[in-house]
Amino acid sequence: MVRIAVVEGDGIGHEVIPVARSVLGAVRPDFEFFDVEVGYGRWERTGSACDSGTIADLRSADAILFGAVTTPPDPGYRSVVLQIRHDLDLYANIRPVRGEGFNIVIVRENTEGLYSGIEWRESDRACTLRVISEKGSRRIARCACTLARQRRHLTIGNKANVLKSDVLFVDICRQEAERAGVPYETRYIDALCLDILMHPDRYDVIVTTNIFGDILSDTAGYLAGGLGMLPSANIGDRYAFFEPVHGSAPDIAGQNIANPIAAIRSGVMLLRHFDDTGNAAAVEEAVGKTLAKGIRTPDLGGTTGTREFGEAVLRELSHGT
Ligand code: NAI
Ligand code: MG
Repeated sequence: MVRIAVVEGDGIGHEVIPVARSVLGAVRPDFEFFDVEVGYGRWERTGSACDSGTIADLRSADAILFGAVTTPPDPGYRSVVLQIRHDLDLYANIRPVRGEGFNIVIVRENTEGLYSGIEWRESDRACTLRVISEKGSRRIARCACTLARQRRHLTIGNKANVLKSDVLFVDICRQEAERAGVPYETRYIDALCLDILMHPDRYDVIVTTNIFGDILSDTAGYLAGGLGMLPSANIGDRYAFFEPVHGSAPDIAGQNIANPIAAIRSGVMLLRHFDDTGNAAAVEEAVGKTLAKGIRTPDLGGTTGTREFGEAVLRELSHGT
């Protein structure tokens, strides 16, 4: 029995996650799902968005399927996603971006860099410290090299021409790529943001630091047809967490129009995490066939609802077996 914690979260999380869960359940009857309530809705009701009991529940699972949570502009509210990433030490943020003629995976360091949280304000200036450690760089480099070894090559996104901290990052990535026997190149992150849009076919696995990865992956998201299409994984040595890249989308929540593909594809990444490549490929194919029939949610120009799209994918899956 494989235990999967399911966090719908807020907004369209309540719509897209049930679809992803039913698709996973259809291919993996051995998955036992249990719900964990996290997010703004819970905060409004109980005054806590996520507590130590919640973290313990998440740690007890073999993997976590997560929707999205609303982060209100309230200064007293701590980001739940950041808390979970920190408490579960999910140091690798993995974002595949795929389309016609390209298949890229961005591997972003998730715990340090400019998001280390070491910052202060002085009289006339504010400072944020960019921390790049050898340990943090090495573990993300190893994660990227493991992927690149199964695929083609590695690009190390950096700004080492300006930032000393990136000289360290690039050195460690080079060492790990050489040790793994992975062909690699280094690219400056600003030029890379432009080139990934112009020549996406040139890229395979890209490893980079926290904020650069955040920006690069959203930029590259344009190539895949928008936020409704993009899955992601947050991986550590002990825990694994899968979520669509998009947020809770309050502007369309509750209308059954959200695109569930990002959530379904996050489920595909979960299957691959358990080395279930057969079912992962079957679900990918079912999504592809559904789209090929012109069945699409409104963000892709169609008229199909969230639930109905999920039902169409389930039908394709049952035909395939
Ligand atoms: P968002 O991703 O929720 O929405 C941006 C735009 O994309 C909206 O117009 C939305 O309708 C559209 N969109 C997003 N997902 C879609 C889907 N599956 N199908 C069709 N259209 C989709 O980002 P936004 O508006 O910046 O943030 C809304 C809330 O979500 C905020 O409270 C934010 O803090 C939170 N958020 C949470 C994330 C997480 O839980 N990891 C990530 C990003 C934002
Ligand atoms: Mg972002």
